[in-house]
Amino acid sequence: MKPFIAIFFCVLGLVTVSSAQDITKLEKIGAVDSFTKSEKAVVFNCQDKSQVQVTVLAPDLIRIRASFAKPISAKDHSWALAKTDWTTPRWSLSETNDAVLIRTDEIEVLVHRSPLLIEFRDAKTHSLINADEQPMAYDAKGLLKDMMFDPQAGTFIAAAKKVGFDEHFYGLGEKAARLDKRRSSFVNWNSDTPGYTEGKDPIYQTVPFFTGLQNGSAYGIFFDNSYRSYFDFAKSSQQRIWFGAEGGELNYYFFYGPSLKKILNRYADLTGHMPLPPLWALGNQQSRWSYYPDTMVEEVVSEYRKRDLPLDVIHLDIDYMQGYRVFTWDRQRFRDPKALSEKLGRQGVKLITIVDPGVKYQPVAKSAGQITSITPELEPQDQRYYVFEQGVQQNYFQRRTNGDLFIPRVWPGESVFVDYTLPAAREWWGGLHRAYIDNGVAGIWNDMNEPSDFVDQTGKNQIDVVSYDEGAKSTHAKNRNVFAFLMARATYEGLERLRPNQRPYVITRAGYAGIQRYSTMWTGDTNSTWEALALNIPMFTTLGLSGEPFVGSDVGGFMGRGNGELLVRAYQISFLAPFCRNHKVIDGYDQEPWRFGKYYEDIIRKYLKLRYQLLPFLYNTLAEAHQTGTPLFRPLVLNYQDDRNTYNLDDEFMIGNDLLVAPVVKADVTRRLVYLPKGTWYDYWTNKKYEGGTTISADAPLESVPMFVRAGAIIPTGPELNYVGEKPVDPITFIIYPDDKGSASLTLYEDDGVSPAYKQDGFRRTTVNAARAAAGYTVSVSAPNGSYNPGPRKFRFLIKSAGPTRNVITVADDGTARSVTIR
Ligand code: GLC
Repeated sequence: MKPFIAIFFCVLGLVTVSSAQDITKLEKIGAVDSFTKSEKAVVFNCQDKSQVQVTVLAPDLIRIRASFAKPISAKDHSWALAKTDWTTPRWSLSETNDAVLIRTDEIEVLVHRSPLLIEFRDAKTHSLINADEQPMAYDAKGLLKDMMFDPQAGTFIAAAKKVGFDEHFYGLGEKAARLDKRRSSFVNWNSDTPGYTEGKDPIYQTVPFFTGLQNGSAYGIFFDNSYRSYFDFAKSSQQRIWFGAEGGELNYYFFYGPSLKKILNRYADLTGHMPLPPLWALGNQQSRWSYYPDTMVEEVVSEYRKRDLPLDVIHLDIDYMQGYRVFTWDRQRFRDPKALSEKLGRQGVKLITIVDPGVKYQPVAKSAGQITSITPELEPQDQRYYVFEQGVQQNYFQRRTNGDLFIPRVWPGESVFVDYTLPAAREWWGGLHRAYIDNGVAGIWNDMNEPSDFVDQTGKNQIDVVSYDEGAKSTHAKNRNVFAFLMARATYEGLERLRPNQRPYVITRAGYAGIQRYSTMWTGDTNSTWEALALNIPMFTTLGLSGEPFVGSDVGGFMGRGNGELLVRAYQISFLAPFCRNHKVIDGYDQEPWRFGKYYEDIIRKYLKLRYQLLPFLYNTLAEAHQTGTPLFRPLVLNYQDDRNTYNLDDEFMIGNDLLVAPVVKADVTRRLVYLPKGTWYDYWTNKKYEGGTTISADAPLESVPMFVRAGAIIPTGPELNYVGEKPVDPITFIIYPDDKGSASLTLYEDDGVSPAYKQDGFRRTTVNAARAAAGYTVSVSAPNGSYNPGPRKFRFLIKSAGPTRNVITVADDGTARSVTIR
């Protein structure tokens, strides 16, 4: 074989790794012998000594746990879960010769005895939702050992499900892939993958949760297993989908909708509702690897202000530290970090610092004196590095099985990683953030937490690294995928303790299911290319469908050289993404909004200003994500799940229920096709009305991204701002888009945007209804509920119609129910 052909096949072998696992050859779980019923669960004892436990958690949530050739372990721990104390709902059990039927008000679980096959059905219609294609299986003979990361650490396990002729699959967290995952397969193994392109897999995160949608009806499966896991959505065989992992338990949660929104709500109950970040986190953010010294940071900010571009946050990448030592400041570059943050604060700009997991490996120098300073982060660290020393003294760093410290190489050179599975180590790490908080830093950016290791990115160099893991003392095969999750948890909890009156704001690159409890996220090291830009939409929507609502991407792309057109089109997506941050690699071409000239800068300004005006709408939708798990940045299928035309729509998205956006993701394009679902739509720019259920051709010059508002919506907007809190949100303008009957409605959520008081009743909900009246429109406003008081302000109501806007009225918001007539 010619060398290049050999290389080709070798590469092909690597990328099709999951197709190579023939799960039909694995040992199948034995037939049911007997079963026992308890208050919450049924345990099936199998002929081969395996056990299967079916636990009823909620009417629409069932847990399946299986052990192979041994009893189910009494130990039951998961990092992902936020809720384990479910109140068991009403359920019943009945049996026939062939099967056992477990029934809640919403789901029927039919467990066939021989072979042991599980079927989920709708309890009301008895129609099939999902069924095993083969019994759950395990690699009893070690057939797959050769391809496993660590054959010693576990046994391959898998479950296979029948696949529908027209079944579509969504979720799996961060994947460099399109929205509909049908006919694709994926691996979960958190990996540092700079410059990834579509199809690269795995990348940074692991969220082993997906939904299946068929005939408008959806179910979800969360396979809570942190080992390297695999998902095949009818790629290697048209007969089945399957999921499996290289160890751990076959342990999954089955959700029944039938609506996707209901599943996401339940998934948020199970793995955690995203807490609300501070409102300023929705502000525009600017970053660079790296802005230094302090005067350059100030220059960037003053450039923003001079150019009348809104800005809330500036990020300090790795060069603010002394030789990349986390929790230190380079005093040559940043003479007085506190003075800097205060100075920026006066201009309405906050500082975020990057914090990587790699702690420089630095045994004490012989000539070193004592560490006496109470602000060691500001002292020279070349003789003694306080973070390394404290961690060693307390034995918080990861070690290999033989007891040696594990020493990877990252930015500081030789480094060590914290064992974040140790509660005391997490607490210590959280407390170290004092070095930032005391200096006025507002939020923390966690990076390189797959964890990246320059010695070897596959994890092989870490294979024998042991983590405490609740006393299990397990190795890397189990812990890699939760490393970032636990680091983010340590960070979040640290910020909560250090600044109890403020909401923490953390950003992460890697994560595991449940990461939304502790961190927001961004999609890592993208390219400044049109292909990478096109991926923004399916990646953001997919993350939203995986329980991670607060997402964004480096605006303009991280690596390579962009151009003005690409940057504008990138902002036309990200100006509505929760995380809107322009960021660039160290050797990339500058791409702050003004770098490509006035023409492009003017367009970017228009979108950034629009973002700030839309903040009440964005925050309202973010609050919905917090409460219900329904993300802000949505694929159309989430709002229109009965509409087949939305099932694989990759180049449109919606914000909440009301705003549909159809960006341009190709060069030199000024018109595009836009699919509008059933209903009436207003062109955002012209107010022209369209009847949906069809595809239209829309004008898309560089200046204007096609946007449509759902008739029946009310969009709450505020004043133009340079930064969040610059002035009171007064008036709040309610832009009313009447539907065919002349009505529209909205419930507006507000709170102080800063403190955790919203978790009690520190919020305000106001319902606004508009209806066509004999002469004009009647707008009624409910008395608000919740204890948050925004102070005196005005409400402005504005009715949109095809053609120029008419009908504006402004009234004082006096906190009472009232009605006004607009003629
Ligand atoms: C990683 C991050 C990137 C950052 C760089 C330097 O590549 O993904 O955002 O700029 O490290 O810290």
